[in-house]
Formats: sequence, structure tokens, C-alpha cells
Amino acid sequence: MRRKLAAGNWKMNGTADDLAQIEALTAAFAAPSVDLLICPPATLIAQMVWKKGAHPLAIGGQDCHTAAKGAHTGDISAPILAAAGATAVLVGHSERRTDHQETDALVSAKATAAYDAGLTAVICIGETLAEREAGTTLDVVRSQLAGSIPDAATAANTVIAYEPVWAIGTGKIPTIEQIAEVHGFIRSELTARFAAEGEGMRVLYGGSVKPSNAADIFAVADVDGALVGGASLKADDFGPIITALEATV
Ligand code: PGA
Repeated sequence: MRRKLAAGNWKMNGTADDLAQIEALTAAFAAPSVDLLICPPATLIAQMVWKKGAHPLAIGGQDCHTAAKGAHTGDISAPILAAAGATAVLVGHSERRTDHQETDALVSAKATAAYDAGLTAVICIGETLAEREAGTTLDVVRSQLAGSIPDAATAANTVIAYEPVWAIGTGKIPTIEQIAEVHGFIRSELTARFAAEGEGMRVLYGGSVKPSNAADIFAVADVDGALVGGASLKADDFGPIITALEATV
């Protein structure tokens, strides 16, 4: 059985003032029946790790360099994230792919760097609106999966986040049938390539997940949780999403 995962991506939002959200979250879910992960700006990782104490909430980075250290001004490496207390890192988020021209090969190398540092890589994929409208969604997803996931991926070190680019931050989500189709496809691709390890990898849905649509999305087979952006910033919004996921366990 795959353990469900509710993950929050704070993107470029949050200062020390927002640590109160972590306090509220850990108080509301003292013993969660699903895994919880928050990926704040890197400046907050160590503070969040300290703030959450022994609570099982995991803290993650939003990106990492392919190298462990060196002359890469402004970048952050997987070992540095791990040393700050992170246990996971997002790689290949569509905003990184767009803003920083990240390719599947680069994303795969970043995932390898994450594994080497003992971090779980949350590998993000998803089609653009043009690709959806051209009917090429499954082809895009197939090639992103093939190119972005290293051969060393296992159920323990890898989570896949399927995030249609056109659903991120837009309030639009695919139909339940479309989510089911892509998640079923991803599962079959993972199982074909990684056998039992692929069967065990969590596949999250991401893109405009909110308290109002979470239960419908979580009812879809092969949806093992969510990667939540805007609605993860406030415990009052993220909490009901976690509750909806716990209701499926
Ligand atoms: P959103 O972002 O929930 O704000 O749409 C999701 C993501 O980009 O991970």
C-alpha cells in the first residue's frame, strides 16, 4: 500500500512571520494518518525544522543544483538542503522548466543529486495547454517520465507529481476523467519501467487543488495525494485538504 502524501509548495512566498502556519498545522494534525511535506523558501527550512520539533511533518527544498558544492552563485545543493534538515526536494517544477529552461535531462541529474544526498526527489511533470489541446498529453507525459526519472529511482526515493501546467495557479483543473486517465497512464509507465518499485512510487496530482475540490480528486484511483501551491500557504486552507486525504485512508 502506498502511503498518501499531502505536499505544500510555498514557491517564492513566506518569511519567518509565516512559521505560525507550521505551528497551526502541526497542532491541528498531531498524529497525521498521511505523510505531510512543506517546501518553503530555502531561508525557512532550518527554522521550520526547528519549529516542528518531533512532529512527522517533512520539510523540503524547491530545487537543487546537480553538483554537491562549488562555484554556483545563487544556487543551492542537495547536501546543503539535507544539512538544513530537509528530507525531500522538488525537481522539475514547471515554473523551473519555464523560468530556467530546465530540460528533462537536467531534472534527472537533479534527482540523482537528491538521491546522493539522501533526499526524496519529488519529480514534477505535466503538459501545457497547447499540448492538452493538441491531444498530445500522454505523449508528453511519457517522454517526461522517461527523461526526468533516473534509473536509480525507487519507491522510497521518488515521488511523481503530475501537474498540468495550465492548471497551476489558474483555478482550473482537469476533469476527474482526465486526471484518472493520466494517473492510470503514469502508473502503467512506472510499473513497466520499475516493476514493484514503480508500483510503490507515489503519484501526486497538482494544480489548483483546494478544499472545495480535494475530495473529488482524492477519490480518483492512482491519485496518492496532492502537491498544493497557493492553498498550502495557510493552515486554514491546507488543513481541509489534509483532512480530505486522511478520509481516503
Ligand atoms: P497551485 O500550484 O496549487 O497554486 O495551482 C501547484 C504547484 O505549482 O505545485
